[in-house]
Amino acid sequence: MPTATTERRPAEAPRRLSTPEELRRWSERCRAAGLIVGLVPTMGALHAGHRSLVQRARADCDRVVVSIFVNPRQFGPGEDIDRYPRSLDDDVRFVTEERADAVFVPTVAAMYGESAATTVHVDASITGVLEGAHRPGHFDGVALVVAKLLIACRPHRAYFGQKDAQQCAVVRRLARDLDTGVEIAVCPVVRDDDGLAVSSRNAYLNGDDRRRALAIPVGLSAAAAAFASGEHHPAALCALVRRPMEEAGFAVDYVAAVDADSLAAVDVAGPGCQILVAGRMGATRLIDVIRLGIDRPPLDAAGSHGAQVPGVIGIQGRE
Ligand code: PAJ
Repeated sequence: MPTATTERRPAEAPRRLSTPEELRRWSERCRAAGLIVGLVPTMGALHAGHRSLVQRARADCDRVVVSIFVNPRQFGPGEDIDRYPRSLDDDVRFVTEERADAVFVPTVAAMYGESAATTVHVDASITGVLEGAHRPGHFDGVALVVAKLLIACRPHRAYFGQKDAQQCAVVRRLARDLDTGVEIAVCPVVRDDDGLAVSSRNAYLNGDDRRRALAIPVGLSAAAAAFASGEHHPAALCALVRRPMEEAGFAVDYVAAVDADSLAAVDVAGPGCQILVAGRMGATRLIDVIRLGIDRPPLDAAGSHGAQVPGVIGIQGRE
């Protein structure tokens, strides 16, 4: 893997890039100077989860660009894109504080123009299950925008969060299948002190729902503990997650023990197998994940994130 070569510059306003063409030229200049470029794709409303990605990218790369784009293509007809939280001024401040070198903030017109006749579809075995079954077309939108970002930026590495485990599988696959040469780095789930995975959607939970939502980290911790004690039966492990969720009042969309790359259900849960979960608490839909035998149980891990730069937990790309 290539390594960063230069000292960091002091904090200063990141260069603002507004079109794929500007992103391309910025990145080409960096590459021409022999610098390692890292890309952190986001939809803004930046929080501690995003921060961990930017910090990881800064630790690995000479130049870091954060993209902020609420991608209309990944919102379904029933999903209100207008309700998606937007806080561009705060986000630019956040990116400045984290000392990213550039921030890419395109308009929808700059990204998609008048007509975009091209789609990017990763096989339905990966995109049609779990989140894909509940959000039809979602991953086509994600695949399209990520492919466009990778092509325009041509970073050495792009950073994604394990929290969106299926998204990671989709992105890994498209980066490989399209011969992008981009390393896909996956960073661990950042949790609040109580164990709940950080998400912009947590803001929609009222106090009581927020307390009930802790059934997710409680359930994932129970599954992790059972796995550590020798329980390898997927149904038994998933039941340990589902039960507290249902008791807390979640409408559970799925709890599944799957292979991290193929997302196929496993017959026997081995180390590295992931339990993916999604459920609705009132109008708020939450997702989470644990990697069995690898991640600390969320309740143990609670409070220990955020202070240090988390390591990359997996990189796919060139040798
Ligand atoms: P967004 O929801 O803004 O998330 C941007 C990145 O932050 C994703 O890779 C996501 O997995 C990561 N992330 C979010 N919460 C996290 C947490 N608690 N811990 C660790 N990482 C976390 O995901 C998207 O945007 C979009 O689909 C995008 C990839 C930008 C394409 O539009």
